[in-house]
Amino acid sequence: MPMDAPPAGTAAPAIRAVGLQKSFGPLRAVDDVTFDLAPGRIYGLLGPNGSGKTTLIRLLTGLARATAGTAEVLGARMPSRDMLARIGYMTQSDGVYPTLSVGENARFFASMYGVSGDAAVEEALRIVDLADRRSTVTGTLSGGQRRRLSLACAIIHRPPVIFLDEPTVGVDPLLRVQFWGYFRSLAQAGATIVVSSHVMDEADRCDELLFVRAGRIIARGSGRELRDRAGTAALEDAFVRFAGDTVDSGDASDAGGPR
Ligand SMILES: Nc1ncnc2c1ncn2[C@@H]1O[C@H](COP(=O)(O)OP(=O)(O)OP(=O)(O)O)[C@@H](O)[C@H]1O
Ligand SMILES: [Mg+2]
Repeated sequence: MPMDAPPAGTAAPAIRAVGLQKSFGPLRAVDDVTFDLAPGRIYGLLGPNGSGKTTLIRLLTGLARATAGTAEVLGARMPSRDMLARIGYMTQSDGVYPTLSVGENARFFASMYGVSGDAAVEEALRIVDLADRRSTVTGTLSGGQRRRLSLACAIIHRPPVIFLDEPTVGVDPLLRVQFWGYFRSLAQAGATIVVSSHVMDEADRCDELLFVRAGRIIARGSGRELRDRAGTAALEDAFVRFAGDTVDSGDASDAGGPR
């Protein structure tokens, strides 16, 4: 379990963005985002295709350079090479190697993060229910199985800060529940987790949601708070409501709320 994140609510933010911006030519994919995210909590990024969720995650992990503003993880200004071992990032497209076996992929990521011994590899594969597939060539796995392996590889070093970009796409309902149970146990052990998702029943498993539209955070709060503030019963309707308040902000996203 990650041990170096302080308990929730008591300490410095695990993740901080100040005036964060990323432009691609005239498009502001991330547009003046400022927030603090506390340790030990699960945050959901919710927004339509092209609203800037992945770009925001890439800025926070230090994989993309900001056009303006700053991102900090555990007090370190990103990008930071030293932070790589303390961040887990499950990308939206699987980052595992198709020609390696399941076990080889897991061992590769473990060694890349300086994790020695087989225990971490076995534990990660067990969590995603792939322990008995360790000899299978990754390219022959089903889409959902590959997603599971990507998760195992992303958290194999027990990082205190974890970014999961649509981690449960293609994952069956039963395993999805297990995934969320596991995310919760990581957060309870102190990890800060940022999950992007389009699945509304998953959104309610997050401690807090950040609605993302056209590169901006248009609302933030628990699912219940956001529904109450919008006066709607469904989260989709709450999103549309908040989006309606920001229509003239220069929309860089596709129309409509989250899927
Ligand atoms: N490398 C890039 N070059 C140019 N434009 C980019 C690049 N990366 C992202 N964009 C644009 O930035 C915007 C935000 O993209 P991003 O991938 O962050 O959205 P997203 O919210 O993750 O969408 P999805 O839900 O489909 O994953 C889009 O309009 C996209 O086309
Ligand atoms: Mg994305």
